[in-house]
Amino acid sequence: MANKKITTKTIRAMKGGEKISMLTAYDYSMAKLVDRAGIDMILVGDSLGNVMLGFDNTTHVTMSDMIHHTKAVSRGAERAMVVADMPFLSCRLGVYEAVRNAGALIAEGNAAAVKIEGGEEISDVIRAITDAGIPVVGHLGLTPQSVNQLGGFGIQAKTDAAAEKLLRDAKAVEEAGAFAVVLECIPRALAKKVTESLAVPTIGIGAGPDCDGQVLVLHDMLGMFDDYVPSFVKRFAEVGKTITAGVTDYIKEVKEGSFPAK
Ligand code: KIV
Repeated sequence: MANKKITTKTIRAMKGGEKISMLTAYDYSMAKLVDRAGIDMILVGDSLGNVMLGFDNTTHVTMSDMIHHTKAVSRGAERAMVVADMPFLSCRLGVYEAVRNAGALIAEGNAAAVKIEGGEEISDVIRAITDAGIPVVGHLGLTPQSVNQLGGFGIQAKTDAAAEKLLRDAKAVEEAGAFAVVLECIPRALAKKVTESLAVPTIGIGAGPDCDGQVLVLHDMLGMFDDYVPSFVKRFAEVGKTITAGVTDYIKEVKEGSFPAK
């Protein structure tokens, strides 16, 4: 992709063509590094609850957490499109409240789009938010905000009935106006079917190689977080080990008096 700011138009045009690259980031300096590397989309995921705030799931993340981190990421992203997660319940308490919350992520956070977990049941909200001029990315399959209802973080839509429901949800989300859909932890064959059935791009995470793009949590793929690492994650670097080694050397040199030099 050329060095031009990525927009919904760019992402839609990538359907079935060049794969979309997406990673999470939660702060200014990481956003700058990821942007500089040429990523297409930066997700300010509510996974920040796990990797930045130390919670055991994303239900504890608030609108003010999301606005705070989205502001920082937006300042660091020149080219990438910044998408901010709508946190737990922020779009489940009525359409008015949902549009107001999405608007805050755009107006205060300076995001270019929001991501919403859920299918058919939330399509009226997706419609209202897109009608308000705010681009929406859908999120189906494993929807971590529903972890208490799902009973864990395993693979979703394994039965024929569940797969059919997911396909219906994907169509409903697309019809409601979403310009892309994240598919998390679903069988490869189903992700392929959804991808072939939608006119908008799919972005997979633990959903196999046939989606129109891929997303990972930055801290997982760079080896900076090991409280819990899903099996589908590939480690592209061992940044955590590099940080620990650098800090260990610093401590040693301070203790023995070799830093700072005379
Ligand atoms: O919050 C997040 O990081 C996400 C991705 C896992 C898709 O929603």
